[in-house]
This record gives sequence, C-alpha cells and structure tokens, in this order.
Amino acid sequence: MAKITVIGSLIMDNVATMERYPEAGESIMGTSINYYPGGKGANQCVAIARLGGDCEMIGMVGNDENGKIFKNLLKEENIKSDNVFVCDKPTGIAQIQINNEGQNRICFIPSSNFEFSFNHIDLIDKIIKETSLVVLQLELRLEIVEEIIKRAHKYGVKILLNPAPAMNIDKEVLKYVDYITPNEFELSSLTNLPVETEPQIIKASQKLLSYGCKNVIATLGSKGAIIANNKITKLIPSYKVKAIDTVGAGDSFNGALAVSIIEGKELEEAVKFANAMGALTVQKSGAIPSLHTRKEVEDFLNGIIN
Ligand code: RIB
Repeated sequence: MAKITVIGSLIMDNVATMERYPEAGESIMGTSINYYPGGKGANQCVAIARLGGDCEMIGMVGNDENGKIFKNLLKEENIKSDNVFVCDKPTGIAQIQINNEGQNRICFIPSSNFEFSFNHIDLIDKIIKETSLVVLQLELRLEIVEEIIKRAHKYGVKILLNPAPAMNIDKEVLKYVDYITPNEFELSSLTNLPVETEPQIIKASQKLLSYGCKNVIATLGSKGAIIANNKITKLIPSYKVKAIDTVGAGDSFNGALAVSIIEGKELEEAVKFANAMGALTVQKSGAIPSLHTRKEVEDFLNGIIN
C-alpha cells in the first residue's frame, strides 16, 4: 500500500498567456496557448512522486483522449493508478489566464471529477485504511471529500487538506484535519476574517486551530507561509525568485509538504522544503511540467545555503 494516497482531481489545463487580463466586455490578444495535464490532485501526486514519495493517485477521468493522457502520464511517473476510474463524462477541463507577472486566474469545469461517488469511496475504503497520509483538495464534490476525511480519521490515518478552491466545508469535519494549507483567500473564506496583514493572518489561523485542525500552514505566495499549531506560530519566508507562471505552485508546495511529513520532518523544516519546491515551480510554465525532482530541490537549497 502506498504511504501517501492522493484522492482528487485530474483536469486538462488550457493555459493562455497575455500581457494583462481583459476587462469585462473587452477582447485582447494573447501571447500563447498551451494544454497541460493538471488538476490539483494530479499536480500534488506528481509532485510527491518526483520528490521520491511512495504515492497512489485516486480519482476519475473521462473515456476520452485527455483521460488517456492522464493514464499514460501516471504510468510514466511510476504512480499507482489502478483506482483512477473512467466514466462517460469528459475529463475535467480548466481555463487558465496568466498575465505578465506570472499571476493566474483559473476557471475549472469538474465534469468527470464530480462523478466520483460514495460507491467509489467504498471501493477504495481498504486503501484509505492502510495508507499513512491521505492528501485531499476540494475539486471533488464537497460531500465526497468530507466523507473521506471522516473515514481516514476513523482509521487513524493522517489527513492533509488543501482547501482549494474555497468551499464551505463542514466545521465538524475540519476538526479531523491534521494539516490544512489554505492560501489567504481560502483562509479568509474558512474563518470569515480579514487576512490583509500578518497579525490578521495569524488570528485567522488561530481560529482554524480552534475548529480542531492540528496544524495550519497558511500559504502566502512570494511571502512564504505562516505555520500555527499548539506549540508554534511563525512565518517561514519563501525564497526570492522571478515568477513567470504561478500555476501549480500551491500544489507543488502541498506535495513537498506531504513528502516531508511522511519522512518525519519537523513542521518548520517541512515548510522550508515546500517553499523551495514552490519557488522552483513558479520559474517554469505549466503545472505538471514545472514540478521539480528531489535532486533539483536539494541543489536549489544547497545553492542558497552555500
Ligand atoms: O492548482 C492549479 C490547478 O488548479 C490547475 O492545474 C487547474 O487544473 C486547477 O484545477
């Protein structure tokens, strides 16, 4: 049984780059269009695999070309994918806009991903029971993610939840989450608190802890991440790099965090490693194409330290 099980989305990304985003009602000329396999689940799983983590991907693709691309990709990355199910709906699609600062705007159509049902949870129940860490995002139906969290908790399996995109997840379920990794927007939506300043982010993170989450890791993009648990509250700064495409940076961060947790690293060390993975990701285009290997992350960190 794989130590880390990612249960989440597989989505084909249509990525358009442009100088700036169009205004409502405005047409502008873009600079490029590319198609990359993505989806927060698949991105996080490939990140884990490239960092040497023992992982399995579970999700749902369509019976179409994009579904085949995902099946082949997972095979090439040596990721166990027997439980990437196939349905009659098309594989999920995202439209992504990237401006000249590398920032992104994403609209995703879940399609096949929303066909993952309670019956599929029953089929993978044994895998949930026997894995060490379940990694989840919110691109499957919310009630499905909530049920997986309940089962993982019942079996004593650790849970890492990347609560993206922002959803109104049941607070009763949040108390079972061991590691939660909201960005500023998601943190504000989960807590109904402002998150413009560092003290506000800390306050909102503490509110999440009060729901029962064990560790909050609030990701702040180029600023780094604030970690909060019952022992420590601290900003772990990121590394200064020039971003050309931020798509998948949060996913690479989560993948690296998952690997570090399984390796038994302290949270602060784990987040430093995840920040390095994120800093490398934003320097390349595409989500999965920009995910680096263990050696590349270690070389990057050694370059900074030496
Ligand atoms: O986090 C980035 C991912 O979010 C993209 O790959 C896209 O598929 C969206 O789901």
